[in-house]
Amino acid sequence: MAEPEPGPVGRVRLAILISGRGANMEAIVRAARDPAYPAEVALVVSNRADAPGLARAEALGVPTAVVPHRAFAGREAFEAALLSVLEAHRVEAVALAGFMRVLTAGFVRRFEGRMVNIHPSLLPLYPGLDTHARALAAGDREAGATVHLVTAELDSGPILAQVRVPVLPGDTAETLAARVHAAELALYPGAIADWIRSWR
Ligand code: GAR
Repeated sequence: MAEPEPGPVGRVRLAILISGRGANMEAIVRAARDPAYPAEVALVVSNRADAPGLARAEALGVPTAVVPHRAFAGREAFEAALLSVLEAHRVEAVALAGFMRVLTAGFVRRFEGRMVNIHPSLLPLYPGLDTHARALAAGDREAGATVHLVTAELDSGPILAQVRVPVLPGDTAETLAARVHAAELALYPGAIADWIRSWR
């Protein structure tokens, strides 16, 4: 019997982890509707049942799951539950998109080289929280966002892509955050595609 023709290489099964409104998640889902996009969004997971992004994902027709961190005794138990959900959906890569939980080294190792994050600053400047207020307090003339590989150290993995926006006179943390956020939506889907194509 003849060997079957090798089929086209399948798209990577990507999970998107969220905690909030899910605008970056939506941008990725919409980009992945293009059959040429190298990933399909297999699952959106939130650690908060009240994340507005969950309804957004459902409206986009993407499978969703909630793994509520408060229901678990500690980080390891939470992450074990998260991992079993990801494995049940045969997830191969993970994009953090406003996911506001710190992940342990063990979980990070499980997705080593296969997990990315978007952070609202020009890393290595301002890892952690309150990035826009800190940029304004420092008198920066530029702000932006960074897509990076997730490593055990918070917001410190190898940088894959950045976008820059100006800091304008009269900016508040809120106006600057809105400008950076809009730029993130244009950056993240393409950065994920380039990253996946680099190892797929
Ligand atoms: C984004 O600005 C993202 O960079 C930030 O949360 C926001 C999520 O927005 N992530 C972090 O601060 C991670 N430390 P979204 O839910 O509308 O995509």
